[in-house]
Amino acid sequence: MRNLIEFLDLGLQPLANNYLSNNQKLKKEKKYRLKVLFNKKTKMVSIKNTFSSKIMFNNKYPYRSSMSLTMINSFKKLSLEIKKKYKPKRILEIGSNDGSFIKNFDKKRVVGIEPCSNIEKITKKKGFDTYAEYWTPHLAKKLHKKYSKIDLIYSANTITHIKNLDDVFKSILLILSKEGTLIIEDPSLLECLKNNTYDQFYNEHIYVFSLIALEKILIKYNLIIFKVENLEIHGGSTRYFIKRKDSKLRIDNSVKIQKRKEINFGLNKVSAYKLFAKRVLKNKKMLIKIFTKLKYRKKKIIGYGATAKSTTILNYCNIDNNYISYFLDTTEDKQKKLTPGTKIPIVKYHKKLLKNIDYIFLGAWNFKKEIFNKEKRFISRGGKFILHTPMPKII
Ligand code: TMP
Repeated sequence: MRNLIEFLDLGLQPLANNYLSNNQKLKKEKKYRLKVLFNKKTKMVSIKNTFSSKIMFNNKYPYRSSMSLTMINSFKKLSLEIKKKYKPKRILEIGSNDGSFIKNFDKKRVVGIEPCSNIEKITKKKGFDTYAEYWTPHLAKKLHKKYSKIDLIYSANTITHIKNLDDVFKSILLILSKEGTLIIEDPSLLECLKNNTYDQFYNEHIYVFSLIALEKILIKYNLIIFKVENLEIHGGSTRYFIKRKDSKLRIDNSVKIQKRKEINFGLNKVSAYKLFAKRVLKNKKMLIKIFTKLKYRKKKIIGYGATAKSTTILNYCNIDNNYISYFLDTTEDKQKKLTPGTKIPIVKYHKKLLKNIDYIFLGAWNFKKEIFNKEKRFISRGGKFILHTPMPKII
């Protein structure tokens, strides 16, 4: 354990997606200490205290990837690229959520795994072959029996949610064809540190990947990253294209470039994480100052996008219903509920609710472009947004 360095303490936190109904308001919530670790040997960044998948991903999971146009368009673009470049006979998605990615493919060619049965139901009803199960060697064997090998496996924002990465990649090896491609996409550690987006850390994000850390695990399974793409998705994500070691696919220069970027920033050294922790503390102080000032001036502030990420920010900075009157959100399962820990009411999004508002805390900052575009009127009449990244500011 001498290799594990605890570099960040984000305090006591509730489960990030555990939106409360009104009758749970007075009940004690499950809380945990959100501490973040860097492993000097493996270079992996992970959270210290974790919960089982069954607690986090069950039949009440509220997140829907189809709630954002940015996500829908990104999945569409990737699926076109996959069809053109890789021409897979069959595609498997691990963590298919409400089908935003798989819907771009012929139903006969695509299989989805989504353990949250309330969401998996959505794709099953539409005729897709989906399984409300966790990604395990047992499931991989079952699918192998049914489909034999699969030549393209995709997983976005899912692998980092699974604690046992050895099991994840072992299961993938059971079903990925010899020349097959595995594409995984998750928030980028480099972008997180660069932009001080400490809210990438919450109970579901057990890991935040860097290429240098991921590469070290993959090599154990004779898997190699052959291409890297950096995306704006979720405030900066990396898409890793992975192949078996003996596959003929060529290694792209983007891998070398990304590695150089990460090393230059210091992702391989403890000092970069310690500096990040200092910036996070400064970020917290500045954000509290903004909210306190606006409250003193009796300004009404609302939140926009009750994200899992904003749970970390609000609880770490103690910003509750005294500062934010309510959150607007388009996700039905979050509406009429309260934000975890800070108990701020969540209201169904409607443009007219922005009418007399001066300030909006952008919980869904990762969809800034899309939201600024949607709320042109609010902006043109002088409405302001509060952002916490890279440093808190009003724009
Ligand atoms: P995420 O950052 O975890 O993807 O969550 C985004 C949340 O923001 C989700 O609950 C939907 C919400 N949202 C809106 O309410 N309006 C919007 O225009 C967008 C893009 C997202």
